[in-house]
Amino acid sequence: MTKKFYITTPIYYVNDVPHIGHTCTTLVADIIARYHKLLGEEVFFLTGTDEHGAKIAEAAKKSGLTPKKFCDQVSKNFQEIWPKLNIQYDYFIRTTNPQHERIVQEFIEKIYEKGDIYKDKYEGFYCVACEKFVTETDLVDGKCPFHPTQKLQKQTEVNYFFRLSKYVPELIKAIEKNEYLILPKAKRKEVLTKLKAGVNDLSISRASVSWGIPIPWDKKQTIYVWFDALLNYYTALKINKKEKFWPPTVHLIGKEILWFHTVVWQAMLLSAGISLPKVIFAHSFYTIDGQKMSKSLGNVISPKQLLEKFGVDGTRYLIASSFPYENDADVGWKKFEAKYNADLANGLGNLVARVAKLCEKANFTPPCYDDTYHHSKFKKFHKLMLEYKVNEALEFVWEKISKADKYINDTQPWLLKGEKLNKTLNYLVKEIREIALLLTPFMPETSKKIRQQFSGPKIKSQKPLFPRIN
Ligand code: MSP
Repeated sequence: MTKKFYITTPIYYVNDVPHIGHTCTTLVADIIARYHKLLGEEVFFLTGTDEHGAKIAEAAKKSGLTPKKFCDQVSKNFQEIWPKLNIQYDYFIRTTNPQHERIVQEFIEKIYEKGDIYKDKYEGFYCVACEKFVTETDLVDGKCPFHPTQKLQKQTEVNYFFRLSKYVPELIKAIEKNEYLILPKAKRKEVLTKLKAGVNDLSISRASVSWGIPIPWDKKQTIYVWFDALLNYYTALKINKKEKFWPPTVHLIGKEILWFHTVVWQAMLLSAGISLPKVIFAHSFYTIDGQKMSKSLGNVISPKQLLEKFGVDGTRYLIASSFPYENDADVGWKKFEAKYNADLANGLGNLVARVAKLCEKANFTPPCYDDTYHHSKFKKFHKLMLEYKVNEALEFVWEKISKADKYINDTQPWLLKGEKLNKTLNYLVKEIREIALLLTPFMPETSKKIRQQFSGPKIKSQKPLFPRIN
């Protein structure tokens, strides 16, 4: 039976247009999905938009559109930009999809009947930007630590609560037994420490927010946006009749939504008796020239701008090579330009041009190569890819590029003749084809171009792959 691989990204809020942060997660998910296809696995890759809740209702109001019209418009921005980056998702879920809404209602009803939901009064500060209640201990100078400019109001509501605390012992056990993995390792420790410190039950409905899915047994309340959103990973498969992909192989997320994915989501599934996702991998954040990316600072980088400047594969390379795997990664226009010129125009592009020219001059006919991908041939690269260390996997490829460059400098093929020249070119062409093969998930078009250029009968010089940017 073919191995199944189900990968997801967070579903993005439609109060914002796509930026480099969303691009980072979605692109890396695409690279990982493509790698697993290369391994011969059956892959399902899900992304989408998160469209309910107070934050979206506010943004819609500001734009003068009805919430649904507003969501249609902004969601389209996300749906359309990903294919332009050659990101091939299998399904794009929207939480306003009526099928999603119905399955969410069925789910909540099921755990209500089980007794895991009760009514109680909630008093606390709600941060609309986070879409969550901020506990007194989390407040910094009376403000949300993530959104210090957001006004917080004390809210008192009668809500429905989910018995999250009931599942804490089971969650601790599951994490400690590695029934699901939290990566990178430091994040696993962080979650365990917080779980062991004690957890309150979670308010999962809102009386004051009308833009949401109604609670089936009490239509005056709507389902808390996070409860609704997390379920997308489950409803998307049902909608597509792809239940065979359950459970998710990996949820790729940013570090700020770790708790929701490793605790709230898992507890919801435990309550419903559904098997748990296998891996939750939380990457860190991009900062832009040393600062947090923010609209008010005007330093937001969009995928559209990146595409205009660096092209599809240039953008894919720059994002993947700066992937904030464990720590935040600082990026910016100057850094991107320098990296593009150094690694793509000079590194990869130059090597390809150099070898093509040597081959053309020598009228070299490459022998037939079998370049189906066998991961056993690239153990180190394979291990990095399985650990989602896409930036390090690229470093591995770039070491091969440097080695090939050095080999040319050392052997000086332009001085060689006959069998010696043939052997040297043979080695170089084989190296280049291997490099192109490893780049398939990262830069699909470039990889294809290089492999075509370096397959027989004759190898010709071509236009530079990555023209320098000044
Ligand atoms: N709607 C929720 C997620 C619900 S999932 C069931 C949400 N949406 S969001 O639009 O705010 O997107 C957050 C995600 O965008 C992060 O988890 C991360 O994947 C990505 N990023 C946002 N800013 C980022 C950076 N500055 N750097 C890297 N990734 C970032 O939260």
